[in-house]
Amino acid sequence: MDLAKMIDEILENYHQKHRDDLEVLIPLSKKVEEVHADHAEVPAGLGDFLEKLSFELENHMQKEEQILFPMIKGGRGSMAQGPIQVMMYEHVDHEDNLGKMKALAKNYKLPEGACGSWSALYKGVQTLEQEITKHIEIENEQLFPQALNE
Ligand SMILES: [Fe+2]
Ligand SMILES: [Fe+2]
Repeated sequence: MDLAKMIDEILENYHQKHRDDLEVLIPLSKKVEEVHADHAEVPAGLGDFLEKLSFELENHMQKEEQILFPMIKGGRGSMAQGPIQVMMYEHVDHEDNLGKMKALAKNYKLPEGACGSWSALYKGVQTLEQEITKHIEIENEQLFPQALNE
């Protein structure tokens, strides 16, 4: 696939999507944590963790959007070994964060009689986990190797 087209799809299907999802999931998590504060299975700390994840992801995506992707689109991907290596190191950190996020969300196992917000929260967090994983896979296995080969 054409590299510019691949980048545009990543921006639309992943970068923007993660931003939209986190904007909903952070307040939703804080609401569930507050309403069910004394429930034994409350996902305590998940909202704060999603905020940290969002901050790190934002920082990473901005580097891709402002530095790496313009290099690749400009046909200078083969000179981008340095930035690509940094992005791949950061992807490892993100995968680490996804494991912690899943643990804080109790492996997405809902308590008996969970309310709609709690169900929506775990469903949304699980989707986010799958989408960030797919995003990393596309960059590591398709975009970066092809860009370096240009
Ligand atoms: Fe990305
Ligand atoms: Fe990335």
